[in-house]
Amino acid sequence: MGNSLSAIRGIFFDFIDDPWKHVGEEEKSARFYADGLLVLEEGKVKAFGSFAELSLQFGDVPVTHIPDRIIMPGFIDGHIHLPQTRILGSFGQQLLPWLLKWVFPEEKKYSDPEYAKEGSRQFFENLLQSGTTTCQAFTTHDPVSTEAFFEEATKRNMRVVSGLTGIDRFAPEGSMDTAENFYRDSKRLLEKWHKNGRNLYAITPRFALGCTPEMMKVCERLKNEHPDVYINTHISETPTETRECIEYHHTADYLAAYEKYNLVGPRFTGGHGVWLSDEEFRRLASSGAAISFCPVSNLFLGSGLFRLGKAKDPQHTVKLSFGSDVGGGNRFSMINVLDEAYKTGMCNTTILEGRVDPRSQDLSEAERNKLSPYRAFWSVTLGGAESLYLQDKIGNFDAGKEADFVVLDWKAGPRAMTWSQSRLVEDQPATVEDAANLLFSIMMVGDDRSVDQTWIMGNKLYSRTSGEPALAGTR
Ligand code: GUN
Ligand code: ZN
Repeated sequence: MGNSLSAIRGIFFDFIDDPWKHVGEEEKSARFYADGLLVLEEGKVKAFGSFAELSLQFGDVPVTHIPDRIIMPGFIDGHIHLPQTRILGSFGQQLLPWLLKWVFPEEKKYSDPEYAKEGSRQFFENLLQSGTTTCQAFTTHDPVSTEAFFEEATKRNMRVVSGLTGIDRFAPEGSMDTAENFYRDSKRLLEKWHKNGRNLYAITPRFALGCTPEMMKVCERLKNEHPDVYINTHISETPTETRECIEYHHTADYLAAYEKYNLVGPRFTGGHGVWLSDEEFRRLASSGAAISFCPVSNLFLGSGLFRLGKAKDPQHTVKLSFGSDVGGGNRFSMINVLDEAYKTGMCNTTILEGRVDPRSQDLSEAERNKLSPYRAFWSVTLGGAESLYLQDKIGNFDAGKEADFVVLDWKAGPRAMTWSQSRLVEDQPATVEDAANLLFSIMMVGDDRSVDQTWIMGNKLYSRTSGEPALAGTR
């Protein structure tokens, strides 16, 4: 075997399919090896399978053994804001007043290259500590923050999606820019960063309420000129925002404000989507666009309960990522996101099972709201990758994929974890059900302390046991 090969031995769990397609037998969507081997070559997966089988073929490859942990593909955060890293947990407001009071003043500081660089460094450290290996991120209206984002991502060799954030109304003077400047700066940044290493570019109109028709038109023009880039935005987060947006753009609903400028299709993500109509869900599904479900933020800002079961309607399935929406979300960890996603689903189930209003009973939608560990961890790995059309690069351990993974410790975290895990498994997970039970206890009782290590392209970039991020700020 060539010298460039290496391997990781341990307990592995990943996905090969969407568990919502396997109601009653969700384990068919997962792959579990109680003793597995992940063979790596130049940061990519060369082979993946049981140790017993693969060690015959790769017997002379140096092996790193990681015992007593579950190794999964890295988590994908489909919606997050770089410049809100330092305003987590800002008190007392719902979306629009929260933006005005807390967000815009903080984001303005990112026009200072030093402030932006330090913020980006903290941002990526938080991601790695949380086991997040890919994110789709907003920056600010100022190119300085977008440059800082891509530079720090590049140092860590992470697969990321981001772009200059366009806003030319709604925000105070100094927190916006003109459509003309946005076009010029986006074009320059896009040509510099899209597909440069693992970086990907998103044309990023912040939200339709913050964009004039001129801003929307330049987004359309950029997309026409560069059809393979992403579109990242917000949609239907709160009732007030939705109403105001429809009035401002003179459209029948929120989605139509983006459709009017031909922005909706593959590689479009709208964050939140809490107040989408059934009809909008159908149009999103048929277009191939995605929604990013941000439950921590939806609860923190009081935006509402996203209809997960509606998005997963088998007749009109909408692509989904899950997002932290930091700092609308008060946690970086996708484990916390799964916790709140589960509770959102349970509240929706209370409404849908028919005892509040028998007319709204829909037992199959209620069932789809229930976030099993299979549905949960698929959503933050392969499902998130599919929503970004990156399933050929990340999301599971198929040969040829980029080797981003997270090492989970089912005993770390709150003291209650020890009780929780010992109730579930004697010692080590022996079956896929054992492992799924441990993963459910991690998502409901654990937090970022459950993340023991985070690896990017076959390199360990974060290790909890060694304290500080191993390679923070370096490559
Ligand atoms: N809508 C427009 N901007 C933002 C933002 O920064 N956060 C959230 N949650 N929603 C938005
Ligand atoms: Zn957001």
